[in-house]
Amino acid sequence: MGLEIQDQGSNNRVEVDADAIDGDLRIAIQGDGNHVRVGPGSSVSAGIDIVGNENTVIIGSRTRLLGDVPLEIQGDGNSLRVGDRCYGALVARFTSSGAGLEVGDGTTFQSVLMSLDEPKRITLGKDCLLAGAIWITVTDMHSIVDLDSGKRINSAKDVVIGDHVWLTMNVTVLKGARIGSGSIIGTGSVVAGEIPANSVAAGVPARVQRTNVTWKRDLIREEPHRSDERETDPTVTHAIRRL
Ligand SMILES: CC(C)(COP(=O)(O)OP(=O)(O)OC[C@H]1O[C@@H](n2cnc3c(N)ncnc32)[C@H](O)[C@@H]1OP(=O)(O)O)[C@@H](O)C(=O)NCCC(=O)NCCS
Repeated sequence: MGLEIQDQGSNNRVEVDADAIDGDLRIAIQGDGNHVRVGPGSSVSAGIDIVGNENTVIIGSRTRLLGDVPLEIQGDGNSLRVGDRCYGALVARFTSSGAGLEVGDGTTFQSVLMSLDEPKRITLGKDCLLAGAIWITVTDMHSIVDLDSGKRINSAKDVVIGDHVWLTMNVTVLKGARIGSGSIIGTGSVVAGEIPANSVAAGVPARVQRTNVTWKRDLIREEPHRSDERETDPTVTHAIRRL
């Protein structure tokens, strides 16, 4: 199949080198003035679906977006940018106009859902590691209304995650959250506020547990524990040897 473009609109610009993409790529557009660019060596396994006008989807080079759900934009003037060398299952849900998602170079995800159902931005830095069952949202999807004023009080807000952040399994990042570079969020945590750089934060809501730390993708193996190292009494050692 290679590259399949279904363009049902006008002034749509698709910049994909069919010979340079990794495998097959389907791009479906209903609307006008949209711009899609997919860099060399990249793939989007479930394709890209746009319904709306003036949206931008830029995927860098050597990025592989996996999973069964297409990158999907419904609305106008949204922007989705994923950098170079990113990898993993990313579901990005755009159902409003003027929202933005930016993922920095080298960021990887096991499985993540990004909810952009209101016109706000999610910014995720470079070299982040997102484990499975991660949800990042700028919106609560429904309104909380103050009884006196009759006004909505749970406004949508931007989410900003720095460079080299590790979100472990099953982390939720809510509207307005900010996570500083180099930080680690513990499994099952819900981040609702600000987490400083180079810290471990965990819990519901996430609170700082450690400071002055960073993390590495490599697992630094520790020396295996040898059971006879703890034996200080030579008679005990001798008795064990005789058994
Ligand atoms: C975040 C994490 C890496 C921190 O590990 P650590 O630095 O060794 O931290 P500790 O286990 O010593 O815990 C430090 C404190 O944070 C608390 N804490 C750690 N993880 C927590 C969590 N997920 N929720 C709530 N509290 C947590 C501990 O109870 C401890 O509190 P205390 O000081 O009051 O006793 C680890 O807790 C974690 O979540 N691991 C999961 C990693 C993962 O999902 N890997 C999958 C592949 S990416």
